[in-house]
Amino acid sequence: MEGSFFCVSSRALLLLSLHVLMNCFMHEGYTYGAKGKIASYTVSVRSLLPSPSCSPSTTKGGNRKSTLEVVHKHGPCSQHVQDPHPLNHIKILLQDESRVGWIQSQSSNSGDVLKTSAAARLPAKSGITVGTGNYLVTIGLQTPKKDLTLIFDTDSPLTWTRGKPCVGSCYTRSDPIFNPSDSSSYANISCTSSSCSQLGSIGSSRCSGSTCLYSIQYGNNSSSVGFFATEKLTISPMEVTDNFQFGCGENNQGLFGGAAGLIGLSDDNISIVEQTADKYGKYFSYCLPSSTGSTGHLTFGKEGGAPSSSSFTPLSRVHQSSQFYGISIVGISVEGNPLSIPSMVFSNGGAIIDSGTVITRLPPTAYRALGSAFGKAMANYTRAPAVSLFDTCYDFNKESKVAVPSITFSFAGGVNLDLDPSGIFYAVKALQVCLAFAANRVDSDLVIYGNAQQKMFEVVYDVAGGKLGFGSNGCS
Ligand SMILES: *[C@@H]1O[C@H](CO)[C@@H](O)[C@H](O)[C@H]1NC(C)=O
Ligand SMILES: *[C@@H]1O[C@H](CO)[C@@H](O)[C@H](O)[C@H]1NC(C)=O
Ligand SMILES: *[C@@H]1O[C@H](CO)[C@@H](O)[C@H](O)[C@H]1NC(C)=O
Ligand SMILES: *[C@@H]1O[C@H](CO)[C@@H](O)[C@H](O)[C@H]1NC(C)=O
Ligand SMILES: *[C@@H]1O[C@H](CO)[C@@H](O)[C@H](O)[C@H]1NC(C)=O
Repeated sequence: MEGSFFCVSSRALLLLSLHVLMNCFMHEGYTYGAKGKIASYTVSVRSLLPSPSCSPSTTKGGNRKSTLEVVHKHGPCSQHVQDPHPLNHIKILLQDESRVGWIQSQSSNSGDVLKTSAAARLPAKSGITVGTGNYLVTIGLQTPKKDLTLIFDTDSPLTWTRGKPCVGSCYTRSDPIFNPSDSSSYANISCTSSSCSQLGSIGSSRCSGSTCLYSIQYGNNSSSVGFFATEKLTISPMEVTDNFQFGCGENNQGLFGGAAGLIGLSDDNISIVEQTADKYGKYFSYCLPSSTGSTGHLTFGKEGGAPSSSSFTPLSRVHQSSQFYGISIVGISVEGNPLSIPSMVFSNGGAIIDSGTVITRLPPTAYRALGSAFGKAMANYTRAPAVSLFDTCYDFNKESKVAVPSITFSFAGGVNLDLDPSGIFYAVKALQVCLAFAANRVDSDLVIYGNAQQKMFEVVYDVAGGKLGFGSNGCS
């Protein structure tokens, strides 16, 4: 049965929003399988490819006052693309692999101290590869306020931006560099303060005279070193946090691309989540858009609430690496039919959700079951060679529309997530569209639920309440 008529008519009556209509247009219809579950989506092949132009969401997270617009780092909505070939998928996937390797090494050898980087000159431990599949938000810092575009990362603790004076390696970008002397609200943090000792959770603190220094090491030789300081943080005109602790990076190197730094959303004492706990109750949510040519949001606090359709699964800590947000996957269905995977397979090495990893990494046992069921459902389409992380690829050269088999993730607490079609396929190029999942090396490796599979949901981190929610249509 085709669901497209239902989709357009009922929603159009309820909500005459162009955005919702476009959503329906992109997924032109559903077919239903056993027990009324969605079996497949009809999508146009064009909608799977990167968009050449930006059509921002008009509602910006329901116009909540503590909302920031989210754009993809390499999409046309980002003003900060410097790379002449901004969407090199092979490169993005390679860096994704590097991020995953780093996260997994952290989770199994927590407490290992990394070798001192010569550039950083400070010993540092924790840190992850920033990667390039990330999303950006723009926040205000300083008095008078200046806007900075930062990567947001749920697996990083510290918020930092590049600042003056710049010593050592200073990558260039278009935003003006943060200058403490332009601001009436900047203050150094003293070396003897308890804030400075809390930096121990990200690596180490040192002193320059009486001033606290931070050093954070990311994977693949990316790092940031500088003064640990306080500033006025402006999320929106009504939402200002004084004395926000951040890093004023004097020496930064690595894969930060066009961003001026990073906003750390992990569950750590120095993250923005903890620092704004009084105001936002350790609660934030975001929606990642289905295409690089659209926008989503990052919202702090419960204002406006989670969408009524949200369902919640427990949020836990994984191993000793407490900064990661642990989740519990219990099963996967294809076309509404549960795959036969023992749920132990998912809990072996633990599982986390991450905003910065692009592709979900599954235990090999689970990945094999998924690839095989998906391959059967796609039997009528032409296969394409494996590429990068992917081994289940299709040549859609001759197709204008395809029927995408549905994939449902089940989490503890009875949460069933029907993935958006944009989270099922990854278009490496027009003629090579692949199942957007990859296998870990062994079943005991940490499972990572990546950002491709979060697209279009409102993902709610109720850190204080210990639960993670998913609501539908999060970007509209
Ligand atoms: C690490 O960085 C180097 C130099 O920038 C680059 O050539 C290499 O591809 C990167 N490796 C990964 C896995 O991203
Ligand atoms: C912060 O500390 C550095 C190093 O001690 C110093 O050069 C700078 O003037 C200080 N800035 C302020 C605003 O106190
Ligand atoms: C990364 O760091 C290692 C160890 O410090 C060094 O051997 C390697 O050459 C560096 N790679 C790049 C691309 O800078
Ligand atoms: C946060 O700080 C407190 C007190 O400084 C400390 O006891 C606690 O272990 C820290 N928690 C994390 C996750 O770093
Ligand atoms: C493939 O096409 C044939 C002929 O149209 C049809 O009978 C069959 O159900 C299709 N298989 C799948 C998996 O869609």
